[in-house]
Formats: sequence, structure tokens, C-alpha cells
Amino acid sequence: MGNKVALITGGSRGIGKAIAERFAREQYDLVINYMRKKSKAEETKAELEEKYGVKVHTVKANVGELDQIRALFAETEEVFGRLDVFINNAASGVQRPLMEIEEHHWDWTQDINAKAYLFASQEAAKLMEKNGGGAIVSISSLGSIRALPNYVVVGVSKAAVEALTRYLAVELAPKNIVVNTVSGGAVDTDALKHFPNREELLETARKKNPSGRIVEPEDIAEAVYFLCTPAASMIRGQTIIVDGGLSLLVSE
Ligand SMILES: NC(=O)c1ccc[n+]([C@@H]2O[C@H](COP(=O)([O-])OP(=O)(O)OC[C@H]3O[C@@H](n4cnc5c(N)ncnc54)[C@H](OP(=O)(O)O)[C@@H]3O)[C@@H](O)[C@H]2O)c1
Repeated sequence: MGNKVALITGGSRGIGKAIAERFAREQYDLVINYMRKKSKAEETKAELEEKYGVKVHTVKANVGELDQIRALFAETEEVFGRLDVFINNAASGVQRPLMEIEEHHWDWTQDINAKAYLFASQEAAKLMEKNGGGAIVSISSLGSIRALPNYVVVGVSKAAVEALTRYLAVELAPKNIVVNTVSGGAVDTDALKHFPNREELLETARKKNPSGRIVEPEDIAEAVYFLCTPAASMIRGQTIIVDGGLSLLVSE
């Protein structure tokens, strides 16, 4: 039997890359999806193939477009013939106060972050059930349950991700597919370059964190990997917060 296969949307850099590496360490072959930066995806492919001896296939697709989602999964089946793990990691969004949000900001963000999760999970489930089941993990953030500055459209899209996780967990259970979400505190990736309050956010994430340090991409990746192992098979539809305890604090 060949290697198991994991597909990670936005797996070319940041948290997605750390997740891809975690699965490569376990000898999974990978499908790494990206949207714009081909060179970054090719760099990650070369690095993981060299380091772990696994096969990595890169696919350019905007997950906000249904036809591109379908093409991404069709290519996965064509190249590897199976799918065991699907990680819904890619996200985008407009960082603005609520009163400055326009309709196209809302649509762009919900399409990529929330709508894609439902339709990509449908495609993932069709492939997974052919070989007896699998695991799906999505990535969320604390803006789903808190009101963060400039974060309304992303926060609402992440709340949809967490709600969808519960529905997927129940409705895909008969196919032997385990579904959960990992929600992270601030992680210093390129994504934060778009945050007007980046410096303040990182300062709080570092200095006030009860754990004594900021969350690293690898912290998220470890939780994601765990949720795809048999040890986690009775955890279903949950959102596990990986933030070092930061969100437990009440700030003045
Ligand atoms: N960073 C944080 O503080 C933090 C905290 C909690 C949760 N999260 C969540 O963690 C996940 C990863 O975030 P990150 O910080 O690692 O982001 P990042 O460094 O900005 O990387 C984003 C990745 O997603 C891809 N991507 C973006 N839009 C896409 C689209 N429409 N279709 C397909 N791929 C797309 C990018 O591809 P290209 O390179 O081609 O653009 C890239 O591979 C997101 O769900 C985010 O909400 C992040």
C-alpha cells in the first residue's frame, strides 16, 4: 500500500506549511494548494521532498471559486488516487472596522473562509469514503468568539467555520470521517502584515501570554496532527484553542 495522502489548502507558507511538514514527518504524501505565490509553493515542495522523501504535488487554486475547488480535488485523485486527510487552512479577509465594510469585502472573505470549507469538505468526503474514511481539520481564530479590532468579517467567517465543523462532524460520521477545528492565538506569519494593529497584537501575544511565549506555527500543527490520529477518534466537531492560555485572561 502507498503512503497516506493529506491535502492542505494554503500549505505553501505560514501555518499551512508547518502543518504540511508535520504530516510529511509521518510519511504522508502531500497536496499543497496555494493561490498566488507559485515560487513559495515550489520551494516548500522541494524542501519537504528532500527532507522527508515524500511526494509533494502543488496545485494553484483559489478556494473561493467552486470550480477551482472541484479541480483541486479531481487533480488529487488523478495524482494520488486517494485522500486521507483534508486541512482547511487557507484564509483571506479584509481588515476594517464594521462601519467601513462593503458588500464585496464580506463576499470575498466568506467565500474563501466559510463557503470553501463546506464545498471542499464535500469533495474530500467523496474521496475519503472510497478508502474507508479519514479526517478533516479546519483552522479558526479567536475572532470567532471575541470582538477583535478590524476583524468583523473574518471573525464571522471563522464562527461559520466552527459551526460548520459541528455539522460536518455529525453528517460525515457515517462515512468514518472525523471533523474538528483548531483555533489559534496570534502567530507571527505574513498574514499579520495586513493587520493595522500588528505590532500591538504581537506584543500582547508575547508578553501577556500565560505560557510565557507566543504561539508558533508548529504548536498549531501538532494539535492538527493529533486530531487526525486514532487517539483522537472520539473527539468530534470540537474547536480546540491553542493560544497558550491568552484568551483566558480578562484585560482591563
Ligand atoms: N497568523 C495568525 O495569527 C493566525 C491566528 C489564528 C488562525 N490563523 C489561521 O491560520 C490559517 C493560516 O494563516 P497564516 O497566518 O499561515 O496565513 P499566511 O501566512 O498568509 O498564508 C496563507 C496561505 O493561504 C494561501 N491562500 C490565501 N488565499 C487563498 C485562496 N483564496 N485560495 C487558496 N489559497 C489561498 C496562501 O497562498 P499564496 O502564498 O499563493 O497567497 C498561503 O499559502 C488561516 O486560516 C488563518 O485564519 C492565523
